[in-house]
Amino acid sequence: MGIGILSVGSYLPERIMTNADWTKLIETSDEWITERTGIKKRHFAPEGVNTSDLVMRAAEKALQRANLHPQDLTEIIVATDTPELYTPDTAALVQHKLGVNEVPAYDLAGSGCAGFVQALAVAKSRVESEGGKILVAGVELFSRMMNWKDRNTCVLFGDGAGAAIVAETKSQSEILATYAGTDGSKADILGLEIGGTRRPITAEMIADPSYPPIVMKGKEVFREAVVRMSQAARVVLEKAQVSLEDISLIIPHQANLRIIEAVANALEVPLEKVYVNVQDYGNTGSASVPIALDEALQTEHIRPGELVLMTAFGAGFHWAAALVRL
Ligand code: ACO
Repeated sequence: MGIGILSVGSYLPERIMTNADWTKLIETSDEWITERTGIKKRHFAPEGVNTSDLVMRAAEKALQRANLHPQDLTEIIVATDTPELYTPDTAALVQHKLGVNEVPAYDLAGSGCAGFVQALAVAKSRVESEGGKILVAGVELFSRMMNWKDRNTCVLFGDGAGAAIVAETKSQSEILATYAGTDGSKADILGLEIGGTRRPITAEMIADPSYPPIVMKGKEVFREAVVRMSQAARVVLEKAQVSLEDISLIIPHQANLRIIEAVANALEVPLEKVYVNVQDYGNTGSASVPIALDEALQTEHIRPGELVLMTAFGAGFHWAAALVRL
């Protein structure tokens, strides 16, 4: 028996914010956003809906598709950079709301958009050592945490959640290889540097129009994302001794269409083999890979038994890849 993904679920909040909607709030254009990023629209959660609510909706779908009850779960890992509270973590809130037993539940926080794929690797090794069934979620509620006046960043992001259940499987489904890496020397290139011990939030900060001050050196992020995502993809292929020709679908983190095209180019694969939905959802951070995986399964871009390669990159810098037979 291998350790694989039993099921996947995702959730996008109903409110849609188009590029045209952004032009009413900031100096931008549909043309600029489309040309630079490929993004046409994104989903934003309404007031009163919080991070754990998004996870709940995705988790309920994944549980239902695996014919499982919340009490069947033995662990919960939530990857997010937009937690519901500073402490305790979002996973604790999800554990309570879902009605899961008193199992370990924890966030994999601050790992940027690589979080879900990193969490998949953690879940695999936890099942190896402890057995059980682990809910792995990736979620972001960026609209609540971003700077709505900073056109450099606000147009990029969207809200959403995706979840997968990792367990021993009787079928051919298996996580064949995982890989993750970090380069903390680039921590100042992308992030939200407030709210921690270095820069606790003050009243002056909140009054400043640049609040919250998201740091993003776009061109450097772009370059590094392409190199790391394509490298990470090659590492998992090598680890599993699988060739790129045998992969049915590559699911890269959905940050930007140009980044995705450059990754396809670096891997020398046609874009048809690469899943793209950034035009509909924007960059949903840790949620982007599981949302894309769910959508690819539902639309039969990938079928059970086929090989899928996920590769992601985010703040830290962190990167991670996973090669999975579904
Ligand atoms: N509308 C109009 N103009 C804008 C906007 C906007 N929304 N945002 C920035 N601009 C302007 C800037 O002010 C700047 O103007 P200036 O030259 O007069 O100073 C100009 O556009 C910058 O344009 P470019 O240099 O051509 O921008 P670039 O081609 O680098 O594209 C982008 C910017 C889209 C941010 C790109 O660098 C990128 O995608 N980087 C990756 C960032 C990313 O993906 N971050 C997400 C988090 S990390 C992750 O998920 C991997």
